[in-house]
Amino acid sequence: MVQNVAPLVSELDPEDFYLLSGVEHGMRFGQWVNRNKLPSLATLSPEEVDYRLERTLKRKLIEKRTIQFEGYRLTFEGYDALALWSFSKRDTVEGVGAKLGVGKESDVYEVQSFQPMALKFHREGIGNFRKLDREREYTADRRHKSDLYTARLAAEKEYELLEKLYPGVAVPRPVDHNRHAIVMEKLEGAQLSQIALTEDQVLPVLSRLLCEAGRAYQCGVIHADLSEYNVFVSPNRVVLFDWPQAVNIEHENASELLTRDVQTVLGYFRRKYPDIVRDEPTIEEIVASIQEGRYAEIASIISAGAT
Ligand SMILES: Nc1ncnc2c1ncn2[C@@H]1O[C@H](COP(=O)(O)OP(=O)(O)O)[C@@H](O)[C@H]1O
Ligand SMILES: [Mg+2]
Repeated sequence: MVQNVAPLVSELDPEDFYLLSGVEHGMRFGQWVNRNKLPSLATLSPEEVDYRLERTLKRKLIEKRTIQFEGYRLTFEGYDALALWSFSKRDTVEGVGAKLGVGKESDVYEVQSFQPMALKFHREGIGNFRKLDREREYTADRRHKSDLYTARLAAEKEYELLEKLYPGVAVPRPVDHNRHAIVMEKLEGAQLSQIALTEDQVLPVLSRLLCEAGRAYQCGVIHADLSEYNVFVSPNRVVLFDWPQAVNIEHENASELLTRDVQTVLGYFRRKYPDIVRDEPTIEEIVASIQEGRYAEIASIISAGAT
């Protein structure tokens, strides 16, 4: 199980990180890195490599395999440690705090920076993918489909999207990115799935949410995993987060994916607030208003459908 490596990072010496980055470099050429190559990859003496291997193995930052040759590779913990080390060298992260959430494909921690932030470690390579075509999209035409690599691509993609969407769309402000990790604004409020909106909040929150999906569409992006679990609500903001699976509006399934997003959100509101959100407006009406850039009308479409 992936553990919080933050306490370990403070016990490590720079040479431990040189060894870890040596293993990381070696993994570009194959999953397992031959021990003989480590002194040159890590620019450490063979004796120093022995000592650092022992320390990092003990802390489960690397794994060892002795089939064919004595080989090593980074674990997710080792990769976390390298990302944290980079963030701390450039002063993005001063300390790691409590866990903010565990997603299907991530671990998210509160971190201390110039102000509290959220640090998301991507774990896409671990366990089951929600959809196989997601894997294909991340790793198409790549030779090495290592888990770490898959997670790094997902983090890169999510960070690029946040940079593209912020501040025009209500998404967490992107702060920094390294390897499979991103640092972003820590969202205030609560996940939509965890709160009960008051009667007068329901329609405004629903229309704000759909308007943001409309704004993203204007930027050429469909979230494609929109649900009550990927929306944060605070008294003055409705924020859409968790973007790594987003698709371009030119994607061949763009229309289906947008429809599914709208359907999921409307479905949730109708189930949870059946007396306020009825069967009107139709999903098609909302999808069309997003596609045609008339998302400002969503609020009136929705309140017209309400009872
Ligand atoms: N910027 C943030 N601020 C506060 N909490 C966050 C933030 N980003 C994610 N979380 C928490 O972490 C959980 C998982 O994050 P998410 O981006 O949805 O990843 P996953 O792809 O694994 O679902 C969320 O459900 C939420 O509770
Ligand atoms: Mg999520």
